Amino acid sequence: MKKIIIANWKLNPPTATKAISLAGAIERGIKKIRKAEAVIAPPSLYMRDVGRVLRRARLGAQNIFWEDSGAFTGEISASMLVSLGAQYVIIGHSERREYFHETDQEINGKIRRALKGGLSVVLCVGERDRSKEKFLQFVKQQILAGLKKIPRVYSKKIIIAYEPIWAIGTGDPVSPDDLYEMTLYIRRILFDLFGKKAAHTMRVVYGGSVSSKNAASFLSVEGVDGLLVGGASLDARDFVDIVRSASFL
Ligand code: 13P
Repeated sequence: MKKIIIANWKLNPPTATKAISLAGAIERGIKKIRKAEAVIAPPSLYMRDVGRVLRRARLGAQNIFWEDSGAFTGEISASMLVSLGAQYVIIGHSERREYFHETDQEINGKIRRALKGGLSVVLCVGERDRSKEKFLQFVKQQILAGLKKIPRVYSKKIIIAYEPIWAIGTGDPVSPDDLYEMTLYIRRILFDLFGKKAAHTMRVVYGGSVSSKNAASFLSVEGVDGLLVGGASLDARDFVDIVRSASFL
């Protein structure tokens, strides 16, 4: 399976014009890279404009609501995202859990709605602090709660992103050894949830201080199928280099 590199632009860049030009620069850079997949998740307000520029890269969203229509001021539905050409949605990012108080139950509702709407889901999980021995249990609980009662048929459309909070935006990523251990652990949970085949074939990706310099060290860890990139995805050259390094593995 091809590695997948997902750009999470978060609340950047500041204007639609800049978003279009960043997407254009990334597209030009990845045009000839066939052996890796790229997804760009811009702020939802830019999705239409960015979607028009994308050819090789797929379009993703950073959030979704758990209902598809109704009196929910300010929210964004699966149908709306699909109508703009989105194929992926990031759900349960630690920043949404922290600043918008998203609960596991809400995250589960969002995942269900996204899957029903035909989107692929990138479920983010990860501990705040490794010093507590219970961090493995914490990650397990996030996965189990997020994927509660999701039928196995959807497993192909779910990517688990391991993004430890302490590694996000700090320049201090996880070590490849610890990532290997965590990936095995996550696949064990997926085995219990969805069975053997799904546990092997579902994608598990890493996020947290990924750069063009360290990307290959994570991508070469067995069981790691891609990366979720924050800061470095705002620099076209860096992001293209990361996608290129994925195509060599
Ligand atoms: P950084 O790559 O900036 O550490 O952010 C990671 C992230 O949160 C991606 O979702």
